[in-house]
Amino acid sequence: MQKSIFTLFTLFLFLSCNTKKEKPAQTGLITENAMVVTAHPIASHVGKAILAKGGNAVDAAVAVKFSLAVVFPFAGNIGGGGFMVYRASDGSTNTLDFREMAPAKAHRNMYLDSADNVIKDLSTRGHLAAGVPGSVDGMVEAHRKYGSLPWAELVQPSIDLATIGFAVTKREADGFNRINKSLKELNTIEPTHLLKEWNVGDTIYHLELASTLVRIRDNGRAGFYEGETATLLVEEMKRGGGFITQEDLNNYHSIWRTPVISSYKDAKIITMPPPSSGGIALTQLLQSVEAYDLKKLGHNSAEYVHLLTEAERRVYADRAEYLGDMDFYDVPIKQLTTPSYNKERMQSFNPERATSSDSIGSGKILLESDQTTHFSIIDAEGNAVAITTTLNGAFGSRVIVGKAGFLLNNEMDDFSVKPGVPNMFGLVGGEANAIAPGKRMLSSMTPTIVEQNGKLLLVTGSPGGATIITSVFQSIINVLAFNMTMQESVNALRTHSQWLPDVIMYERGALSEENIKKLKEMGHKLLDRGNIGRVDAVKVLENGKLEGAADPRGDDLASGF
Ligand code: GLY
Repeated sequence: MQKSIFTLFTLFLFLSCNTKKEKPAQTGLITENAMVVTAHPIASHVGKAILAKGGNAVDAAVAVKFSLAVVFPFAGNIGGGGFMVYRASDGSTNTLDFREMAPAKAHRNMYLDSADNVIKDLSTRGHLAAGVPGSVDGMVEAHRKYGSLPWAELVQPSIDLATIGFAVTKREADGFNRINKSLKELNTIEPTHLLKEWNVGDTIYHLELASTLVRIRDNGRAGFYEGETATLLVEEMKRGGGFITQEDLNNYHSIWRTPVISSYKDAKIITMPPPSSGGIALTQLLQSVEAYDLKKLGHNSAEYVHLLTEAERRVYADRAEYLGDMDFYDVPIKQLTTPSYNKERMQSFNPERATSSDSIGSGKILLESDQTTHFSIIDAEGNAVAITTTLNGAFGSRVIVGKAGFLLNNEMDDFSVKPGVPNMFGLVGGEANAIAPGKRMLSSMTPTIVEQNGKLLLVTGSPGGATIITSVFQSIINVLAFNMTMQESVNALRTHSQWLPDVIMYERGALSEENIKKLKEMGHKLLDRGNIGRVDAVKVLENGKLEGAADPRGDDLASGF
C-alpha cells in the first residue's frame, strides 16, 4: 500500500504542472497528446496519471470512475449506473449501457397508496428508491473489451484516496452539511464518519468504502455482485425494507448497444440509445434547428431562444410519450431520428409566437442542477470516451450500505411512477417508462462524441437531470454554429425548456432585459434559475492539439499533457 500511495502522489505532483483552472478563461487547457476533464480535480489527475503511464482512454475512464466514487460521492458512485460512448482512433464506435435496473420485486404501482396517489419521497429517499447498481459491472465490461492496463492498477488510486484521505472543497463541505439530517434519518447503521460539521479543507476518509474497493480490485465483478459486498448490500435491504436481492445482483449485466448516429450539417453525432432518452432527444433537437441560420439569429437573442424552446417543446413531448427501455417497449427510434420527421414537427413553428404546450403540467422545477456527473477523455492514440454516471439525486437515496461504505442510487424515480405525474426533474412519462421487474428506467444522460470530416472533433456531456439534453445540445451548437472555442461554449450561459412545465428557464445573465421582454410578448413564460448543466468537454483543434474545457460552474478541472 505504501508504495502505491507514494507512486500516486508523486505522479500528482509531477503531472499537475500542466494543469489550468482559470474560471473566466475563453480558451481551455491546450495540450499536445491527451486530456481528461472531470468534475473533480483529483479525479482529473488520476485519469491523467493513468494516461501518462501508457493507459488508454478506457483505462483512464475506469480509474476516474472509481476515484469519483470516493472524492465526489455527490454523483460519482459504485452504487449507481451510467452510460459510456466510445470512439476508437480507427473511427469505430460503441456504447455501453450500465444503467441500473428495477429489482425483480418491483411493480408499476409500488410508489402509490391504496387511492393510487404517489406516496411522497418513496421513490427518492431510502431503500425502496434504489435500482440494482450497474457501475461496477459496466467498468469491468468496458475494461474487458477495451482496457490495456491491469484492472488492479486502475482501481488502486481510488483505494489510496479512500484510505489516506483528501481535503474536501467548499462545495463538498456544504453538500455533506446539507444531507447530515437525512443521513441520520435514512440509514440503518449511522455513517458516523460523515456526521459532523464540515469545513473546506477538512480531511475525509472512507475506510469501509476502501475495503469494498479492495474486493473489487481483487475479484472484479464478483467483488461487488457476490461475496461480502453483495451480502452487506442484501442485508442492508432487509434492514431497510428495500427490494434488491442476491438474485437481482446475479442477474445484473451491462449491455453493449448500437450508438444513435446522425448528422448535423457536416458533423456526425455519435450518442447514446435508450434507455437514455438523451441521444434520441439530442438528435431530434439538432435536426429540428438544422435548417435555420443560428448565427444570424444571434446567440441567446430572443429569436434564437424562441426557436430552441419551440424545438425543445416538441422533442420533450415525444420523450414523454415514446421513450423507455427498448428491451421492454418498442421505441420508434428510426422515426424519431429521421430528419424529415423532425422538420415536419417544426412546420407548426411560428417565429413570432409561442406554441402552448397541451396542458400546463404541475412539474416541480428543480433548482439544483448538477446531480450527475460527466467526464470526457481523449488518449494519445486518439481514442475517446464520454461517460455520464449518476446516483440520480445528490447523494442518491442517501442510504449508505452498512459496513460497505457506498451510497445507493435513487434511480427508481426516473421511471414514471404514475403516468402524467412529474418526477424530481419535472419530467412526465407514460407506458413506455412504466416500472417493470428487470427494466431500466429512462434517463436523460447524453454522453456524446462529434466527428467532422471523418475526424474526431468533440467529446461532451453534462449532468443536470432534464437539463442534460439541452446543455449538451447547446455545447455542440455553440461550437458548430457559432465557432466558439470549447471553453467559450462551456462557459456560455444556458437556457432550458422541456414541454412541461411550459416555461423557459435561464441562467441569470443569459437573457438581456430586452430579450426577456420580447420573449414574453411572444407568449413565453420565463424563470430565472440557478446553474443549468455542468459540461466537461474536449475539442480536437485544427492543428491536432486538444482543448479541454472544464465547467466553471463547479470544481471541475481539465488535466492533460
Ligand atoms: N438520473 C438522471 C438521469 O439519468 O437522467
